[in-house]
Amino acid sequence: MSEEDVRGDGGLEARLEEEATFEPPESFVEQANVTDESIYEEFEENWPECWERAADFLEWDRAYDEVLVEDDAPTYQWFTGGKLNASYNCLDRHVEDGRGDAVAIEWEGELGETRTYTYGDLLEEVEAFAAALRDLGVEEDDIVTMYMPMVPELPIAMLACARIGAPHSVVFAGFSAEALATRMNAADSEHLVTCDGYYRRGDALDHLSKTNEGLADVEQDATTVVVDRLGDDLEHSLTEGQHDYDGLVAAHEGASVEPVSRDAEDMLFMMYTSGTTGQPKGVKHTTGGYLAYAAWTGHAVLDIKPEDTYWCSADIGWITGHSYIVYGPLALGTTTLMYEGTPDYPEKDRFWELVEEYEVDIFYTAPTAIRAFMKWGTEYPEAHDLSSLRLLGTVGEPINPRAWKWYYEHIGGEACPIVDTWWQTETGGHIITTLPGICEMKPGAAGPGLPGLDVRVVDTAGEEVEPGNAGYLTIDKPWPAMLRTLYRNDERFVSEYWQEYSDPDADEWVYFPEDGAKIDEDGYITVLGRVDDVINVSGHRLGTMELESAIVATAGVAEAAVVGGDHEIKGEAVYAYVIPEDGYEGGEELEDKIVDNVVEGIGPIAKPEDVIFTPELPKTRSGKIMRRLLEDIASGNELGNTSTLRNPEVVEEIAAQVQEE
Ligand code: WTA
Repeated sequence: MSEEDVRGDGGLEARLEEEATFEPPESFVEQANVTDESIYEEFEENWPECWERAADFLEWDRAYDEVLVEDDAPTYQWFTGGKLNASYNCLDRHVEDGRGDAVAIEWEGELGETRTYTYGDLLEEVEAFAAALRDLGVEEDDIVTMYMPMVPELPIAMLACARIGAPHSVVFAGFSAEALATRMNAADSEHLVTCDGYYRRGDALDHLSKTNEGLADVEQDATTVVVDRLGDDLEHSLTEGQHDYDGLVAAHEGASVEPVSRDAEDMLFMMYTSGTTGQPKGVKHTTGGYLAYAAWTGHAVLDIKPEDTYWCSADIGWITGHSYIVYGPLALGTTTLMYEGTPDYPEKDRFWELVEEYEVDIFYTAPTAIRAFMKWGTEYPEAHDLSSLRLLGTVGEPINPRAWKWYYEHIGGEACPIVDTWWQTETGGHIITTLPGICEMKPGAAGPGLPGLDVRVVDTAGEEVEPGNAGYLTIDKPWPAMLRTLYRNDERFVSEYWQEYSDPDADEWVYFPEDGAKIDEDGYITVLGRVDDVINVSGHRLGTMELESAIVATAGVAEAAVVGGDHEIKGEAVYAYVIPEDGYEGGEELEDKIVDNVVEGIGPIAKPEDVIFTPELPKTRSGKIMRRLLEDIASGNELGNTSTLRNPEVVEEIAAQVQEE
């Protein structure tokens, strides 16, 4: 594989030109949670028992018998025989330790209203809502869907479910009604927690109508709880089977709900994510391994301390928010900041205003946001005192050295290490990154695998590539937060992740994350992007198949191919190549319909950057669409060899048309 074969490498050249390394600032090292570099060796020599160190971050109702059981590989089991409750670990034990008055969640709405929940407050509301859920008929192991924006009731609902042993499935609020219905149906979920609406750039958005539209397509009856977020700004009425959140909590005020003791391997939650086929995958995470790992990585990588104010600007609707807004930070007893809105409302300094106001110690965001900040200019961060910051992090996509340096200089004031964390919904927590109190940083390279992780870059035959060459990323040893299966689809679990490089006959299992990467002499890994049919738009995973099926559902569309092309801010953007049906014209009218269908089918994040109409798609002689060429056209790259095509002339035609536009 050459570097060009790997998608999503926006600005790779610029990234590789840079060789400079940065030592972690001394002031940081002096106080860092993890500073002893022997940890790498220690974990390797003492594997898998090294993971007891992660389990020690939790309080167990019953001690586990074994750290790792490999009998059912690749479904590994961690901390077997152990029992615990996630909500107890995130709430009660801190209160019992006398930290009931410490702040758990600082929340700020887009319009500037604020709410503060101490650990004591949070526990009280979680118990009340847990009691309410039980009254509504939620039982242990029932899957409760949540379709909510960044309001405190979302983590409260998650923790209430965890308390009674009901796994949650959070659907990103920006997803469409159809996406909600697909996920509820796939999980047979009979319970939903949602809200009336939320604010975006000052406007009140109606979320309940979208929810109801989705519910109309849900096959089973669903009990629904609705949070009233907008008050008088959006009148709403509840239908039968819908309950008002505040009313329920008031009715159960003061309730005491014993945390249900769950097996370490019991499901804590599942999260749907995009893959190669159109059907989203329900990634299953467990109570013991996941929570231990979220806490451990929060401690070791993000350097979280209980007295910190920690801010991850992701949305809880994605895995980053699950692991590093809710579970990791709360298990560690810190203050986690939640912000409802966008970074440019009311002004482009909103994030820096928040950092100053809350004296944020740790800030974790996505490269796409950093690229936007760069474009807006340094005057916005310069207008604020950011000296409270101690550590910066990035997640979701590759960060190029220019953006890295901008972040380092203009946000971190050259005094904060940056952790560039590579991981996935499936991995549950960080996999590749530097340990900030130990490792030097190389802008553009995420770092080595974390202690205890066996990360490699291999060729198609599974052999490790020479430093400097591009290859495929693999993880050759299991880790506690790994997904256990795809919900109701064990077969797909094996075929998606374990087929490529494993040797089942020898019982040797290698996890394939479907990313391309390169590794340097020091074992630092530069992740190059997805090698499957997944596009990474602003750090959000979208499957090309999902996009294509939304497009071909439009009247007048005969065939469509969707690819990711480079985008200055988003990293990658969606480009759709469409063949109109006979009798239809490819023009603005059809384009609008296509865009509407994508937004309706998936959500606004999936909106195509451009729709290119063409009488034909470039195909190989065997009839396969040559996506590489379409990607090159979208990214404005030089076009590769077209001689293997059945219809080479069409490539030039499409390219010329795109240039004209
Ligand atoms: C990409 C998000 C480069 C990668 C936590 C992965 C990254 C996909 C990085 C997972 C990074 C994530 N550098 N690429 N630091 N972090 N990715 O499941 O392609 O939404 O496979 O999880 O994002 O996306 P997901």
